[in-house]
Amino acid sequence: MASFSSSSFALLLSLLSLLFPFISSSASTTTIQLSLFNTNPSQDLYEKLTHLASISLARANYIKKSQDSSVSTTPLYPHSYGGYSITLAFGTPPQKIPFIMDTGSNFVWFPCTTKYLCSNCSVSSSSSQSIPTFIPKSSSTARVLGCLNPKCGWIHSKSNPKSRCQDCQSPTNCKQICPPYIILYGSGSTGGLALVETLDMSNKKIPNFLVGCSMFSSQQPAGIAGLGRGLASLPSQLGVKKFSYCLVSHRFDDTGKSSNLVLDFTATEKSAGLSYTPLQKNPVVAGKNALSVYYYVGLRKITVGGQKVKIPYKYLTPDSNGNGGSIVDSGTTFTYMNRGVFEPVLNAFVKQVKGIPRTESIEKITGLRPCFNISRHKTVSLPELKFHYKGGAEMALPLANYFSIAGETDVICLTMITDSASGPELSTGPSIILGNFQMQNFLVEFDLRNEKFGFRQQMCK
Ligand SMILES: *[C@@H]1O[C@H](CO)[C@@H](O)[C@H](O)[C@H]1NC(C)=O
Ligand SMILES: *[C@@H]1O[C@H](CO)[C@@H](O)[C@H](O)[C@H]1NC(C)=O
Repeated sequence: MASFSSSSFALLLSLLSLLFPFISSSASTTTIQLSLFNTNPSQDLYEKLTHLASISLARANYIKKSQDSSVSTTPLYPHSYGGYSITLAFGTPPQKIPFIMDTGSNFVWFPCTTKYLCSNCSVSSSSSQSIPTFIPKSSSTARVLGCLNPKCGWIHSKSNPKSRCQDCQSPTNCKQICPPYIILYGSGSTGGLALVETLDMSNKKIPNFLVGCSMFSSQQPAGIAGLGRGLASLPSQLGVKKFSYCLVSHRFDDTGKSSNLVLDFTATEKSAGLSYTPLQKNPVVAGKNALSVYYYVGLRKITVGGQKVKIPYKYLTPDSNGNGGSIVDSGTTFTYMNRGVFEPVLNAFVKQVKGIPRTESIEKITGLRPCFNISRHKTVSLPELKFHYKGGAEMALPLANYFSIAGETDVICLTMITDSASGPELSTGPSIILGNFQMQNFLVEFDLRNEKFGFRQQMCK
């Protein structure tokens, strides 16, 4: 059982911190500074929680449904407020651009050109002028991607150039550019032209990096660096064998805190003190390419206060249609669980938290359940939440990773979500999406060479 006093438990999200980028490199690794990205500094804590719950749900809906969409030309693009950002430098001379770090997608794109149009993109002020954009004209190395370039096939479902490039005069003389991409996500979109451009990583320059030059977006305040599986992702294009990050806490009062994303090009050194679980094979299902992007882990058991929560097996492993299983998604804020997983977890908390009243009015407004009114309690005791993975790795979450104060009230809510109460259960796609709120102050490692996922609890500075 963990316990805390309510007064010392304050949730404060940092303001958008576009720090001067700090990239350092050794022979085999590159370290990039990682910051919390928040787009609505004006909201109070209560609104923030509500907002984060609703965007987490929008993202879950999108992840679970997108693979069936015929409109989206690339698998998955998130609605990713409440995420973490890195800064990368593109072009010659280099231009520094912030990106949301997203392990749930595999394309890298930035807001682009002086004419970049972003509707409903509030970044501190409401004008899109404050969104840093990449200016291709100012770079001597920016090239629009040609249609016959194999990289064009990475982002378009028509991987056969003959069907993709019908305006080509001939295979040797083709002026056609790679068709524009349009990406739909949750409640917004982005679109533009693919470029090949030099990515400048302090002591390394990577020429001909495929990057999206978005000309318009809706509700997408920054570019996205996709770290998922697939040829177009940042780790794949760089040849990274292992990457790791430690997510600084969502609640702190100074804005300058950050940690690092570490890209390891050799993965020869073992990291100390990590628990590992194998990365699971991605389901291969025709028409559901998005599933090939995610990092699946074998979550086998959830315990609340040391007691096993009864979860039907079908949720824990993807079936032949790719439904079920657990993914790690840095672009999701609050962990999503299918209703059939969430309800037993909820019931376990309700059963074990005795003598503290539930506050359904707050549950209705925030979309979070359960919420408890702790105003009559100086200290409260809450059951421990533990995720158990294939191979025996156990992730015991610190209390702050799964309960949060709701605004200025004496109410605490579980920071995990499920489908909204009305309507049928969303049965497609992964059943469990592990979000970044639950991964605060964990060092997590994606070992791509050995196909394993590692983690260790630690203070991320
Ligand atoms: C902007 O947001 C408002 C309210 O959420 C919505 O009604 C409107 O359609 C959005 N506009 C665009 C262009 O997405
Ligand atoms: C919490 O409980 C206190 C005392 O019982 C009550 O005054 C307060 O209104 C409750 N808060 C909410 C948000 O329900």
